[in-house]
Amino acid sequence: MKLLVTGGAGFIGSAFVRQALTGGDVTALCNVDALTYAGNLENLASVLPDPRYRFERADIADAAAIENIFVSFAPDAVVHFAAESHVDRSILSPEPVIRTNLNGTFTLLEAARRHKTERFVHVSTDEVYGSIDEPHDADEGYPLKASSPYSASKAGSDLLALSYVTTYKMNVSVTRASNNYGPYQFPEKLIPLMIANALEGKSLPVYGDGMQIRDWLYVDDHCAAIDAVLRHGRAGEVYNIGGSRALPNIEVVKRILAATGRGEDLITYVKDRPGHDRRYAITSEKVEAETGWKPRVEFENGLARTVAWYRDNPQWIASVRSGAYRDFYEKNYSNR
Ligand code: NAD
Ligand code: DAU
Repeated sequence: MKLLVTGGAGFIGSAFVRQALTGGDVTALCNVDALTYAGNLENLASVLPDPRYRFERADIADAAAIENIFVSFAPDAVVHFAAESHVDRSILSPEPVIRTNLNGTFTLLEAARRHKTERFVHVSTDEVYGSIDEPHDADEGYPLKASSPYSASKAGSDLLALSYVTTYKMNVSVTRASNNYGPYQFPEKLIPLMIANALEGKSLPVYGDGMQIRDWLYVDDHCAAIDAVLRHGRAGEVYNIGGSRALPNIEVVKRILAATGRGEDLITYVKDRPGHDRRYAITSEKVEAETGWKPRVEFENGLARTVAWYRDNPQWIASVRSGAYRDFYEKNYSNR
């Protein structure tokens, strides 16, 4: 299978690329990524020597660039991760979110339609259901109620992707995952930010009362679920992918402090995020029943691995914070 992956230099996309290239049936993999602040090719250093791997620096909203890539690579399948993925940034500056998440998805769908690409997986989020009151959990039929420009752009792109099944009979599935964590996550999201700050002895900014609930999914479990949907998912179907581990933020923060040997005096309660969703909760029965997937990594184990990775890689944190990883791009990729 020739796989085109978008956003493969980001957190989840790079984990997916590393995982996909351990399998024998991926004959070629093209990673299309614009290398925004969130894209870092150091995340893919281990796959650089693999002759099946190819990188194209391109903006997914650039129709001409995307067309050229589809012509030269002719993928059998697309797995679409590329997005502006951070809620706080989307609140401060929605324009790039709309451009990438909506226009970029549209550009890719159009290219896949023209080239009759056999399979398209659109990677989305449980945030599209909005905040969910106890005791309910959202299944795939739950109404969409996006709260931020980020979640609204994802909900819009989900609907657009599904419309290509109804109208153009394309083989598209949508996945909606809960909060991911693991190595290589940009230190702006809750878990990596709190680990990085704790390791450096800085304060840990908790929004509001810290009682917001998120369901934590280890990134490799998410990637395994996407692979399962790519292979066994049905056209026009949405698949929720949850970690089955709901925790209030403050509990996560306290566990990070314990794991890094720091005291709770580092916790600082700060002004809440505007429109902050209180609770995310989804059911994953459909993906489990149709593909056999299940999350494997327990939160305690996954968090310990994640803390250990950040502790062992302070240069990665410094590099992504400063943008210095771009030197790696110039050195390794400018002639490829
Ligand atoms: P990320 O921010 O770490 O990475 C995004 C990647 O997309 C980066 O490599 C960036 O350079 C690239 N990109 C951004 N704009 C682009 C553009 N216009 N053209 C080409 N490339 C571009 O994101 P992530 O956390 O790895 O999320 C990946 C996907 O998974 C997103 O679609 C996100 O909505 C979804 N998702 C994320 C989570 C989570 O907890 N992080 C949970 C559920 C779903
Ligand atoms: O649910 C899936 C979504 O999870 C993905 O679609 C998004 O791409 C991903 O960013 C994530 O969104 P959240 O807004 O839930 O993640 P974030 O890490 O930004 O925040 C998690 C929770 O922690 C949320 O309730 C806000 C809170 N928080 C976050 C930060 C960065 C804090 O209290 N302090 C912080 O500094």
